[in-house]
Amino acid sequence: MEPPLESTLPDVELKARHRAMWASGDYPSMVETFLTPLGPRLVEACEIGPGMRVLDVAAGTGNASIPAAERGATVTASDLTPELLEAGRRRAEAAGAELDWVEADAENLPFEDGSFDVVMSAIGAMFAPHHQEVADELVRVCRPGGTIGLLSWTPEGMIGALFKTMGPFAPPPPPGAQPPPLWGGEEHVRELFGDRVEFRSVERDVLDVTGFEKPHDYATHFKERYGPTIAVQKNARNNGREEELVEALDRFCDEWNLGTPERARFEQGYLLTVATRT
Ligand SMILES: C[S@@+](CC[C@H](N)C(=O)[O-])C[C@H]1O[C@@H](n2cnc3c(N)ncnc32)[C@H](O)[C@@H]1O
Repeated sequence: MEPPLESTLPDVELKARHRAMWASGDYPSMVETFLTPLGPRLVEACEIGPGMRVLDVAAGTGNASIPAAERGATVTASDLTPELLEAGRRRAEAAGAELDWVEADAENLPFEDGSFDVVMSAIGAMFAPHHQEVADELVRVCRPGGTIGLLSWTPEGMIGALFKTMGPFAPPPPPGAQPPPLWGGEEHVRELFGDRVEFRSVERDVLDVTGFEKPHDYATHFKERYGPTIAVQKNARNNGREEELVEALDRFCDEWNLGTPERARFEQGYLLTVATRT
């Protein structure tokens, strides 16, 4: 397929790698196991209601889009990874929810200026590598007076720490790419949006993860199902460091476990930001 004219070739290659990474493993099952509460949390914070035109950016399997549609909004779920959109479409069908599913890069959205009342992303847009381009696109497609809502893992929380743990085993990031958990820092978000939005609420919260019996079960879950961990493990294997990574992930899950000997429990910190586009 021809790359879009405005994309440079290295960017096309980078996005193809990201698409393959998110299609690997089994992200849909991670949503079912422990991420489900985040979608409705964001939808509630954005005060989504009937008739609103809503764009979910990096929507994956529709964890936020489907509850938004169930509230009567007209929803477009967009994502880089067609395999996840397909899983989302099946999920929506099972729930009897109607929405549009569109393949799209968060850094180059195929929508008209000001075409949505709400533009939101749950732990999604944070994974596109060029943060300023993403913020510019979120602002562009939101109508003046509309809402931009973002839920992002924090750098100091558990998923921020997971990325720090995996960092030494990962291939060097491409030039210009920024680490995803930066989006969980209030200052970073304020800098990206500048005076183009007015912040209505900036809140820290935690997702309680109780679906695993032993801490190492959670490490296994990441290794088998989470695209970013699978990619790092492959790189570690190629460099003869797989065992070291596996030990580091087990240690990481032991350190973050807050549970009992019978059941592990983890708290994953996130930042929830809701703003009005001025
Ligand atoms: C952690 S998942 C979150 C999915 C969903 N929002 C949820 O709450 O379950 C991250 C998502 O970001 C998507 N993604 C990564 N880079 C992207 C990009 N440049 N543009 C659009 N989506 C992207 C992935 O395909 C994946 O669906």
